[in-house]
Amino acid sequence: MNSVLAAQTLLTAGDGGLDDHLSRYGRLPSLDGSQIVGLARDAELTGRGGGGFPMWRKLAAVAAAGTPAVVIANGAEGEPVSGKDRLLLTRKPHLVLDGLHLVALATGARAAHLYAPAALLPRLRESLAARGRAGLDKLPVTLTAAPDAFVSGEESAVASAIAGRGAVPADKRVRLVETGTLVQNVETLAHLALIARYGAGWFLSSGTFLATVSGAVARPSVVEARYGVPLGDLIGAAGGATENLRAVLVGGYHGGWVPADPALPVTREALAPFGAAPGAGVVVALPAHACGLVETAKITQYLAGQVAGQCGPCVNGLPRIAGTLADLAAGRPRPGLPGEAARLAALVTGRGACRHPDGTARLVLSAMRAFEADVAAHLNGRCLATGGRL
Ligand SMILES: Cc1cc2nc3c(=O)[nH]c(=O)nc-3n(C[C@H](O)[C@H](O)[C@H](O)COP(=O)(O)O)c2cc1C
Ligand code: SF4
Repeated sequence: MNSVLAAQTLLTAGDGGLDDHLSRYGRLPSLDGSQIVGLARDAELTGRGGGGFPMWRKLAAVAAAGTPAVVIANGAEGEPVSGKDRLLLTRKPHLVLDGLHLVALATGARAAHLYAPAALLPRLRESLAARGRAGLDKLPVTLTAAPDAFVSGEESAVASAIAGRGAVPADKRVRLVETGTLVQNVETLAHLALIARYGAGWFLSSGTFLATVSGAVARPSVVEARYGVPLGDLIGAAGGATENLRAVLVGGYHGGWVPADPALPVTREALAPFGAAPGAGVVVALPAHACGLVETAKITQYLAGQVAGQCGPCVNGLPRIAGTLADLAAGRPRPGLPGEAARLAALVTGRGACRHPDGTARLVLSAMRAFEADVAAHLNGRCLATGGRL
């Protein structure tokens, strides 16, 4: 897949330095705020942090908020099976910083922040110093360490961390953009930096997304492709499946299980019937000998442990969902199973201060659909994946 990509993409070779960046991409053209919003709109650029929201709408809302804007590049990447943002920040930090500079211009921001894992901060500090010496950025960028936790990249948690209150999600009834705060994923910003140089038309025909492909593949890696790429090509770009596959998790721990159909296009529309979406580009191949219920039980257990402890659906609901999945995985039948998983999932959806319960519920519901035959077999004491008794 990589071979069909144009040269102006995110993951071409690069040492991360400013000289390399400028010789490869040149300086940003001079653009005003409305031109930047127009480019994001015409390019149909959507967020790469998971939600897939049109960037230009957020830019326009923050610019119109009537308060001094704050722009934040979100490189937290709390998702354990994602590695694309770390790779991007290591290989192409200046595209991210160009994008941050552009959204600051578009919103009239008075403060710009880059939020990233602590291990990346020393290199990023050097990148900022190099830009300062070259006179690139008018607005200084503040670096903040993102704690290593699943919810630390949720946008209200990001804003809270930047404000020094800790990376804990806040009340979602207050829309962040209305407070003049823009949080964009680092990959979204890097795409904007390319669009500013090559145009919206170029992005519509050649723009890409980053996918982190892992599981039963020969070379777990970050792959760059275009939306619509067949699932099999993404897996092929990571060296191909190492064995027959049972299913594929698309969109990460808040995503959904889809059939291991190599022809399935990776688009919102094609994935929607399975309760999945491209999200932040996570693809995990589940080998045929592994049980989807056991995998989902492990992930749900992890997610139940990653809560900020503020809201009922997380504190009470997620551990109960995890317990239900554990019973299903172990084949411990009891009255109410398996309907209980779906009932609890519906109960927590939309009830938290952030979307952590919704994402967890989505994963569980997709597992109930994708592994329906496994559920029936487990309740009869048999596992289809291992072929043995439970
Ligand atoms: C529990 C949870 C965790 C999240 N973690 C991240 C993350 O690590 N990085 C990220 O960019 N977005 C994350 N998001 C999405 C952000 O809330 C937000 O939508 C995103 O940063 C906006 O940028 P985008 O529009 O460019 O995608 C998370 C959302 C939820 C509900
Ligand atoms: S919904 Fe869960 S993760 Fe989100 S703020 Fe509430 S307790 Fe924390």
